[in-house]
Amino acid sequence: MTRCLTYGVLATVSVALCWTALVPLPAPAGDKAPELPQTNLLGLAYQPLPKWVPFESKDTVQKWIDENDTKAMTVHAWQLWGGLTEMVTEKVGGEEHRVPLFETWFDPDQVFGPPPPPAQKPEPRQFKRPRQLFRTQPGHLRLLAAEAPTPPPAPEPVDPISFRAVTVKYNREMRDHAQANKYYDGATLQKINDGWGKTPIADRNLKPYPDRAVMLKPVFQFISGTEATLLPYWAGPDKRIDQTKPPGPNNWSEKMLIIPPGQPKVAIRGMPTISLDRFYHMKLTAAEVDYLNKNFGPFTPPISAGDYAILTGMHVSTREIDNWTWQTFWWSLNKPVIPDAVKSRIQPPFDNYETQVGYSFMTGPAAGAAKTDGNPNSLPLVCYNPYLEAGFGNNVFDPPFKNQLGIESNCMSCHRAAAWPGSTALYVSNGLVKPGDPVFFTGNTKADFVWGQTNVNPPKK
Ligand code: HEC
Repeated sequence: MTRCLTYGVLATVSVALCWTALVPLPAPAGDKAPELPQTNLLGLAYQPLPKWVPFESKDTVQKWIDENDTKAMTVHAWQLWGGLTEMVTEKVGGEEHRVPLFETWFDPDQVFGPPPPPAQKPEPRQFKRPRQLFRTQPGHLRLLAAEAPTPPPAPEPVDPISFRAVTVKYNREMRDHAQANKYYDGATLQKINDGWGKTPIADRNLKPYPDRAVMLKPVFQFISGTEATLLPYWAGPDKRIDQTKPPGPNNWSEKMLIIPPGQPKVAIRGMPTISLDRFYHMKLTAAEVDYLNKNFGPFTPPISAGDYAILTGMHVSTREIDNWTWQTFWWSLNKPVIPDAVKSRIQPPFDNYETQVGYSFMTGPAAGAAKTDGNPNSLPLVCYNPYLEAGFGNNVFDPPFKNQLGIESNCMSCHRAAAWPGSTALYVSNGLVKPGDPVFFTGNTKADFVWGQTNVNPPKK
């Protein structure tokens, strides 16, 4: 049987991807992971990072941290970006398609959901509202972040310009680890969490992911396919409409006009006009629009088939060190300066994205027991993505410092607090979060910095 799905591939026209139904999977044997699919939910065959992208040893990365070698970390971030955005050929249904490599990675349901039934049904692209922006997990406090449109069922129509969707992706190493250990299963997790006995809080961890685990959080926004769209862009935290509110995308004062292909070029004096090909973009299919409307709509003005999803940012994290490496990329009006060593690897439109690295909690090098935690006498490191975290107001953050802002946040500090089933404390913005922190980890099992793990619900009582 052959199924088809329209799929926009860096082009102004959508391309039909077709594929044959997957061969039935053998039954799982004992505790071993079942044979897992080679394709993701879009039907794309998984492709690992190309060989030229180095996975560094813990010692190498720790040396960069100890020496405050941001230059080396930044080159590494660009290498990851170059590898993730390299165009690869996917043969689907006998036809060849070119997609950026990251699109072939596994979807959250394939990692933190049960193994699929024999014939997996292809699905529309799994756009999700960033849960980070509205924390509603059972047992969690609900956070109404400044930038979050009301979650569904929303009686209020949502303006597509203020709406951002994420399509979290995991590499094979992560998928296999979560599946082999049944980390998709609430009962398994409950058993682990109930079994700690006298184990010190600091040592209550899920099994660490393999060194080559990589996880991504691409962020998309939506623009018209038939009209110019006015979209705010990041130009620094001072460029905001309302200085009393956090500098999140809905509060940015600087705007640009994005012109879809085939439309007349309009100009507004003093405003940049940007063509769509400066973004990685895809044309939305009817199925994707349906999915967006059902899950997050209604949108006013409506999102229609033929409109575009544009990539405005992406978080990238690798487990090269125990605290993971953290880098983020976001669309920039001015093209970034890319280090010569890696310049030729970054192909348009991916050379339109800026980057920032955050490889430690604190800025200063540390010795002895504090080595991997960081020097408590130095200053907290800051690393965030303007399209994701900049909108967080001070109602989002709790220990160790209340009342901080997203523009003071550090990926590592917030992700360290990821635990199952999770505490009711708010998020952490920055600074050292110790693995034995009683506020976050009493009664919980640390999830190795992976927030996606907390989407798995405890078994129903
Ligand atoms: C205030 C807390 C917070 C901060 C700061 C934060 N994140 Fe996250 N992150 C989350 C949560 C919650 C999720 C769960 C998924 C979602 O948002 O839908 C997540 C998801 C992710 C994912 C998807 C994989 C997973 O399951 O965790 C990646 C990759 C990621 N973040 C990277 C980063 C990077 C890189 C930074 C810094 C530039 C960062 N995050 C900053 C809270 C945070």
